[in-house]
Amino acid sequence: MKKYAPISEKLNHFYHGGDYNPEQWLKYPEILEEDIRLMKLAKCNVMTLGVFSWVTLEPEEGKFNFDWLDKVINNLWENGIYTILATPSGAKPAWMAGKYPEILRVSSNRVKNLQGQRHNHCYTAPIYREKVAIINRELAQRYSKHPAIIMWHISNELSGECHCNLCQEAFRVWLKNKYGTLDVLNEKWWSRFWSHTYTDWSLIESPSPQGENQIHCLNLDWKRFVTDQTLDFFKHEIKPLKEINANLPVTTNFMRTYDGLNYWKFKDVLDVVSWDCYPTWHDNTDDSKLAAWISMVHDINRSFLDGKPFMLMESTPSITNWQPVSKLKKPGMHLLSSIQAVAHGSDTVQYFQWRKSRGSSEKFHGAVVSHCGREDARVFKDVMEVGANLERLDEILGSSVQPEVAIIFDWENRWAIEDSQGPRNCGMKYEEMISAQYRPFWEKGVSVDMIEMECDFSKYKLLVAPMLYMVRPGVGERIETFVKNGGTFVATYWSGIVDESDLCFLGGFPGPLRKTLGIWSEEIDSLYDYESNSITFNEDNEIDIKGEYKVIDLCDLVNLEGAKVLASYKSDFYAGRPALTVNNFGQGKAYYIAARTEADFNEKFYSKLIEKLNITPVIETSLPQGVTAQLRTDGENDFVFLMNFNNHEEKVILEQSIFEDIFTNKKLKEEIKLDPLGFKVMKRKTQI
Ligand code: GLA
Ligand code: ZN
Repeated sequence: MKKYAPISEKLNHFYHGGDYNPEQWLKYPEILEEDIRLMKLAKCNVMTLGVFSWVTLEPEEGKFNFDWLDKVINNLWENGIYTILATPSGAKPAWMAGKYPEILRVSSNRVKNLQGQRHNHCYTAPIYREKVAIINRELAQRYSKHPAIIMWHISNELSGECHCNLCQEAFRVWLKNKYGTLDVLNEKWWSRFWSHTYTDWSLIESPSPQGENQIHCLNLDWKRFVTDQTLDFFKHEIKPLKEINANLPVTTNFMRTYDGLNYWKFKDVLDVVSWDCYPTWHDNTDDSKLAAWISMVHDINRSFLDGKPFMLMESTPSITNWQPVSKLKKPGMHLLSSIQAVAHGSDTVQYFQWRKSRGSSEKFHGAVVSHCGREDARVFKDVMEVGANLERLDEILGSSVQPEVAIIFDWENRWAIEDSQGPRNCGMKYEEMISAQYRPFWEKGVSVDMIEMECDFSKYKLLVAPMLYMVRPGVGERIETFVKNGGTFVATYWSGIVDESDLCFLGGFPGPLRKTLGIWSEEIDSLYDYESNSITFNEDNEIDIKGEYKVIDLCDLVNLEGAKVLASYKSDFYAGRPALTVNNFGQGKAYYIAARTEADFNEKFYSKLIEKLNITPVIETSLPQGVTAQLRTDGENDFVFLMNFNNHEEKVILEQSIFEDIFTNKKLKEEIKLDPLGFKVMKRKTQI
């Protein structure tokens, strides 16, 4: 396992800082001075500037004002604080929309937006692209060789779509490039259905609530186009920046598992991945479900660049103001959730935002410095504590993890499942099911990569693909090779149903997975929320699980084509039919879970697989509920993060005392005590 280079050679420490919006405070020079003092107190070493500064940078068309930014950057720099510089395209000035109304976004109902809010531009409009290129070039010329600037933050949370005429035309060009002829397009879109055949390219329109929205492959292609067009805009943004200084890394801040863009498509243009994390902590008496989900999202972000450390670009030190309830983070949670990001591979902990705005939309959003401006406020002290902890973790920087388990979470697959019209319009729950499969690994402290179906499977022992409804070309074959060569594959109901055009596979589901799984699926039964069935394990089944488990929502009725039955349905007209099968294939095995199982089954099933496949958990112990262990390693030392998401103390018993506490350098005993919302970062020599 290698150690990755730092994000920037200039700053070989964990980054600690946040979005800083001094342009809101230019009339308060004493506040800007006080900010520097407080930043140093909180051990901040980086600030993100310029995210929404366009009108302050270019108050009139072509007239630039950089004086204020020069001063802020220099002042930060003189005080040891680096700058991540943003491009301002996330919110355009009002003068621009007034003069060039074609840059305003048009929504799917074909209504043109007025100026306002943010992310309200057309990413196709040549004039907007021109304006972005000009301001980006100005910024790059002025700052990209400044010693304080460590990276570019492109725009902000890229999102949304535009349905204006320019975008319609670009979509048609995209389709022509993809399909070549209308004949091919019509075939792939199955558009003879309801007589929707297109006879001229100009007749094609993006999906709309009052127009076409039921040609599934049109919907899919539109989402693919939105991703490609956003990516094209992103490339357009970075072109002048890279021309002027190719060495300055670029990132853009992702949002959780945002549905609107296939984030995997950005992997080749990002130097580092970053994301904004805003969990609704304490929305439940038990935070562990949410903690596991957030861990999974961290793992997704680490997996985009194949294990390269990522950045926690935004998090709130206290509340958000856009969730249903603005709940305070309980004592301990800010530090724990910051450490959680680090545990999964983040080399930064950053906030939105440094100082609470005085007015407008986010005046009640949590920030490091509140309206009172006090350093003895609880939130400020929490942030100081994070700063103090990060300073002592430097040796972890650049380390990562190489999991033996991967779960496929695929954007296009999700789009297709959510749009499929049947079998369960009241909720297919793709994301929920992914996290349900992730949870047992989290509970056992087994590291997991979260990949898409195009990734390399060969490095894993276990590949789990919940609801792999869409199987794109070549994927079935690659899974077959993976299993043939000794890998273990787990598939579930509603897999292998459609190809990349959302056309159903003919000849029996699960289409290209059929041979590997040794079954064919005949029908799928959907259950009402109040219904359930159960599955019973056969005597002496080879996975050695006993008893009966409840199943809900979806029950697939399969026939055997080589696979063996491990468990069968207990009731309904399909009682006795296979519900869990295994196919010995080549040197590997392929399991098929035919019905939607719950936590008890998942826990048991994946425990057995972990045991049978000799998958190494981060530590050899049984972890209490709500406690996880995560690993980062540089090949010489392992760093183990034990985290307790319970509101009560927990104990973890280790088999040996081989760890030292990274903060105290003291040898740890076998029994480790974890405070409520507490954690330990432990170090051991890497075991080979
Ligand atoms: C997003 C944005 C920020 C801010 C925060 C508030 O992450 O990028 O500008 O609006 O949300 O939570
Ligand atoms: Zn547009």
